[in-house]
Amino acid sequence: MKIEHLNIVLAGLAEKGWCVLPDFLPSAEVAGLRAECLARHDAGAFHDAGVGSGPSAVVSEIRGDHILWVEVDDPHPAVQAYVDSTEALRQAVNRDFFLGLHELESHFAVYPQGTYYKKHLDRFRDDDRRTLTTIVYLNEAWTEADGGLLRFWPDPSGEGEQIDIVPAGGTLVTFLSELYWHEVLPARRTRLALTGWYKRR
Ligand code: OGA
Ligand code: MN
Repeated sequence: MKIEHLNIVLAGLAEKGWCVLPDFLPSAEVAGLRAECLARHDAGAFHDAGVGSGPSAVVSEIRGDHILWVEVDDPHPAVQAYVDSTEALRQAVNRDFFLGLHELESHFAVYPQGTYYKKHLDRFRDDDRRTLTTIVYLNEAWTEADGGLLRFWPDPSGEGEQIDIVPAGGTLVTFLSELYWHEVLPARRTRLALTGWYKRR
């Protein structure tokens, strides 16, 4: 991970608790991850995402994505590159903010056309270990017309100003999981992401 990138993320977290960074992952890595994500999805490795931390209840009115958890020892080179980049980010964040992040749990997410994820916070009511959310998009040539924008509320009240983020391939979005409301607007074509949470013990 580039030092300039690390510094942008650290400054964003220090100033406001969130950051959007285009081109966090180089396009060759994004292409590798996208191909792998689609191949595993086509092979039937994904399952419907649930809501909350309990026995996974499928709630398609709330979210319609399919997910596949990432194993840290996944041998695929592009997946290893993602694991390495997010590990560098974890160490830098811990060094600067003493958040005590000890691991990243992350999954591939595929939003089929027409699906969305309603406005929510990432921290579970019964489990406060999720501390820093990290999303990396894997989409090729995504524009606003494709929908699937990440709508983000910079005010922790979840009201007022909204920022709409285009899920362009390689873009990183990171924010404190307990503070920020966000939503995925309906995607007009298949939308791919790697979504993770750095956890405290
Ligand atoms: C999530 C989520 C946002 C996105 O998986 O919790 O909010 O842009 N994802 O994919
Ligand atoms: Mn979320």
